[in-house]
Amino acid sequence: MSAAPITIALLGGGTVGAEVARLLVQNAADLEKRVGAPIRLTAVAVRDATRLRPGIDPALITADAEAVAGSGADIVVELMGGIEPARTLILAAMSAGSSVVTANKALLAADGASLYATAAEYGVDLYFEASVAGAIPLLRPLRESLAGDQVTRVLGIVNGTTNFILTKMDEQGADYAEVLAEAQALGYAEADPTADVEGHDAAAKAAILAELAFHTRVTVADVDCEGISHVTLADIKAAQDMGFVIKLLAVAELKFDSAGVAQGVIVRVHPAMVPRSHPLGGVREAFNAVFVEAVSAGEMMFYGRGAGGAPTASAVLGDVVAVARNKVAGGRGPGESVYANLPTLPIGDAHTRYYVNLEVTDRPGVLASIAAAFAEHGVSIQTVRQDGHGDGAQLIVRTHRATDAALRATVDALRELPTIKRVTGVMRVEGEAGE
Ligand code: NAP
Ligand code: HSE
Repeated sequence: MSAAPITIALLGGGTVGAEVARLLVQNAADLEKRVGAPIRLTAVAVRDATRLRPGIDPALITADAEAVAGSGADIVVELMGGIEPARTLILAAMSAGSSVVTANKALLAADGASLYATAAEYGVDLYFEASVAGAIPLLRPLRESLAGDQVTRVLGIVNGTTNFILTKMDEQGADYAEVLAEAQALGYAEADPTADVEGHDAAAKAAILAELAFHTRVTVADVDCEGISHVTLADIKAAQDMGFVIKLLAVAELKFDSAGVAQGVIVRVHPAMVPRSHPLGGVREAFNAVFVEAVSAGEMMFYGRGAGGAPTASAVLGDVVAVARNKVAGGRGPGESVYANLPTLPIGDAHTRYYVNLEVTDRPGVLASIAAAFAEHGVSIQTVRQDGHGDGAQLIVRTHRATDAALRATVDALRELPTIKRVTGVMRVEGEAGE
């Protein structure tokens, strides 16, 4: 006797949803073999049900998302995005006995706790591989493969749109607005691209990564976030002159006390200068790459396509197969793991190196006054370079590692010095070895 079909209902048929719907039908025979039961797409909920959607059977399309969520399908795949109505629909789906696969990082990072709790209450699965770094298998390694290790740091490029923009600015000196429009046309950007360029999308992903890595509940509100909208071609040029490239990084790290006991987590998203020779420095266009450091495993890097319909659909389908296999076997995947319950520490406690660009008056004693400001705040200078002279002189200072709080206090003090005309750039430097 052949196994009963696994039914799949889709909430959303846009960039990612349309691709998932197409692949579910196109690859049905292979998926059946891999799952051990036929996979049947039962409905696709969209906002505008009158629009033609090539590759999707028009009979499956509906504007009644509530009916689709409550249909009792074995798996409801949420690909609408946003907090509401996605959250209400996911909770309704779970309470109707459906397992849920979602790519919705905004919702998971805002209120993953209620999704996990409802999944546990109704005994269903919650899978979300596509929510971070598109096609790259990253969350399953953190949730399962590294579950026996202690992850200490996750560092990476997790937003394709901003990496695409920064790559074009770096390589072509391209105009920011034009490149953003190109990224949108390629299906990389969120419905509201502010989420990409202001770092909110990367912050949501950083929160998801931190929670899985450190077994501690982390929401997007815990992430210190700065986007790329203020990065100028002058910053890009300054980075180039020093052999660096600017990337929007997501960093989640454990902070240890002197006895090696974890005190808390720091999660941050910001543009940073990365050496061109560093593997992250070579990650171009909409590609993502994430470094994971763990006590026993050491350093690992995950690399691949981080955005776009087809790459994201690949991760969604991987989850669909995993959940369908669980159904066939009568089991469930992992639930929430937040037992470590570490506090989130303030960004002022983060340790990094910095680049500071200063427009100064070029006369004796200026450098001494600047060096004194760094010294007073305990920030050690690594290198100083002067470009130009007279009224147009620029000093480029690179520091050793310092706390964010010390660096901010130093920059405030520099702004008060009469010899400094302007602080034209301050950026963190990541990816260099040593102090
Ligand atoms: P999208 O192209 O904007 O598609 C959203 C879909 O949801 C559309 O089909 C839309 O209907 C439907 N929808 C929205 N609100 C609805 C409502 N209230 N009722 C019924 N249907 C509704 O978005 P996307 O790029 O596919 O992204 C989907 C999810 O995947 C988001 O959570 C996003 O963050 C995540 N994601 C996207 C990517 C990517 O590269 N695009 C990568 C990773 C993760 P209409 O078609 O009628 O407008
Ligand atoms: N807008 C996101 C990005 C989509 O550019 O990376 C993938 O999550």
